[in-house]
Amino acid sequence: MRHSAYVFDAYGTLFDVHAAVRKMAGRIGPDGQLLSEIWRAKQLEYSWTRSLMGAYADFWQLTEQALDFAFRKVPSADPGYRAELLEAYWRLDCYPEVPSVLKALKADGARLAILSNGSPAMLDAAVRSAALDQILDDVFSVDALRRFKSDPAVYDMVTTAWRLYPSAVSFQSANRWDVAGATKFGFHTVWINRTDQPDEYFDLQPKAILPSLEGLLTTA
Ligand code: LAC
Repeated sequence: MRHSAYVFDAYGTLFDVHAAVRKMAGRIGPDGQLLSEIWRAKQLEYSWTRSLMGAYADFWQLTEQALDFAFRKVPSADPGYRAELLEAYWRLDCYPEVPSVLKALKADGARLAILSNGSPAMLDAAVRSAALDQILDDVFSVDALRRFKSDPAVYDMVTTAWRLYPSAVSFQSANRWDVAGATKFGFHTVWINRTDQPDEYFDLQPKAILPSLEGLLTTA
């Protein structure tokens, strides 16, 4: 069943967060993947703890702080690459199928948006660099609320702005915890399980699980 509105998580779903480290793998050293994984895990942990504490700092600050922690945790990685890694975050690769799938959904008359923890500036840069700015109707950043996913108020930004019931929105995320939050809110959810992760949050199941966004054109 096709939907009239599709909303996408940004990092990990449209944009490859590990691309920055991968591009510099030869220079960063043998623990580049570990550095990248710690960087991402800490970035997310900070988003959850700061939401719970009511101590918002924007996602760019969390991204910087998480990378600094990752460098301290992985001494083989040269912190001299800090600026270059952070810079790469502003023009991450999108996954290969993203432009064609979004264009096909749009051509079918669907409304398309990003809903992300990213700061407006980060999202604007990533969207432009991937040439998605002409395809997306909206880019919703949590920054307007100063709370991160998976606070229900974040998902509500979309339904309030578009005046839709949650079930009318198909929400896609590669982050299983984000899918859980969006399911709890009432969105029709699709987990894009790009890296074949085991399932979790069993009481908050997505309507579909796909290996990439391509299946949206046929199954979801
Ligand atoms: C986002 C993070 C969760 O884009 O990937 O919101």
